[in-house]
Amino acid sequence: MSAKSNRYTPETAAVRAFVDPEMGTQAISPSMVMSVNHCFDPQQGAFSAQGVEDLSEAPYLYAGWSNPTVDQLEQRLAHLEGAEACLTTATGMAAIAGLFLSLLKQGDHLIISDVCYAGVYEFATQVLPDYGITVTAVDTSDITQVLSEVRKNTKLVHIETPSNPLLTLTDIKALASELKKSGTLLSVDATFSTPVITKPLAFGADFVVHSLTKFINGHGDVLGGAILGSKSHLNQVRARAGVYLGATLSAQSAWLIMRGMETLYPRMKTLCSSALSLATWLEHHPRVKRVLYPGLASHHQFALAQQQMTLFGGIIAFQVDDIDLIQQRFVNESHVFYYAFSIGHQRSLAVAMKTDELDQSTYHFTEEKRAAFRAFAGDGVIRLSIGLEATEDLQQELEHLLR
Ligand SMILES: Cc1ncc(COP(=O)(O)O)c(C=O)c1O
Repeated sequence: MSAKSNRYTPETAAVRAFVDPEMGTQAISPSMVMSVNHCFDPQQGAFSAQGVEDLSEAPYLYAGWSNPTVDQLEQRLAHLEGAEACLTTATGMAAIAGLFLSLLKQGDHLIISDVCYAGVYEFATQVLPDYGITVTAVDTSDITQVLSEVRKNTKLVHIETPSNPLLTLTDIKALASELKKSGTLLSVDATFSTPVITKPLAFGADFVVHSLTKFINGHGDVLGGAILGSKSHLNQVRARAGVYLGATLSAQSAWLIMRGMETLYPRMKTLCSSALSLATWLEHHPRVKRVLYPGLASHHQFALAQQQMTLFGGIIAFQVDDIDLIQQRFVNESHVFYYAFSIGHQRSLAVAMKTDELDQSTYHFTEEKRAAFRAFAGDGVIRLSIGLEATEDLQQELEHLLR
């Protein structure tokens, strides 16, 4: 299937694009290239990250810079996301840290979502200021709040939609068009939605980032991350984050992620349909105080979810009348759900995200923010990552745990 062909649906492209029979062997399944080093012709010049205009086109020299298996994954991801270019990294966190450190310098200002993956929040608020970068955390679901914080030196706005763990949404299209006016870049962490559900670049974002560890690999057995965007932006990021941070994806990880992502579409369809019916069922359960799921009409941003999501995702967050008791039951009594962090596996996972714990470990709320978070999330939420088990088995287990 030709690299740039748009004749096929994304479902077909996910298994077929950039997977042609290999020269010589005619093998269909991609081979893994393990070599760290590649012979090169000195006539072509001595390479360094500084000297090469487009690192993705440079000959293979050293796997820390590029590797044929990693390249193949990057091309396939870019194709699925509708991006010109992609850089993969050792973890999702490396992708985001690499993006921030490539784009931001002393004196710059970064805006992040006030509810987002804890590692990103902590890195942005606790580490970046040491490098002279100022950071403001705002509720990015309210675009006027974001715009009111944009300053002359605001280089980047980084959002998560849906956000981890409260599943709030940000209107990518509206925010991107406003930010273009001030020349501020927008990056979107779309780990929860994947390209199956939302393609942020098509809505005007400059970057999309993923933790490939989650749904895209989808089997809970490999770490990875990706940054996607225009060729010129990605050249800058590749030269800095790709080479100097050293958080390169290994060939083995790239190969596993490629195999996982071939089933991304059917997996997402199955688990999103299961999540929607479980969220609907949970909403009527007497022990459940509130369900946060973008596919429910009760979600405060349901209209936006319908506009920018084709499915509503595999993550459900819900409040219960006694979070300590229900957490203990998940830990001690569940047979189908695993009580574990992370998301996006074939197996269903559950974890309690308690407001006080998040406050102490990550958010360090002001009084006002603490009150706002509590008003929305109470004592905290049980976060479910729905897997590929039968919906009825998951529901039966939830019935038992919520008895
Ligand atoms: C939304 C989101 N972004 C990024 C990350 C970081 O990804 P990784 O664990 O691959 O470093 C996570 C991890 O949970 C996440 O939930």
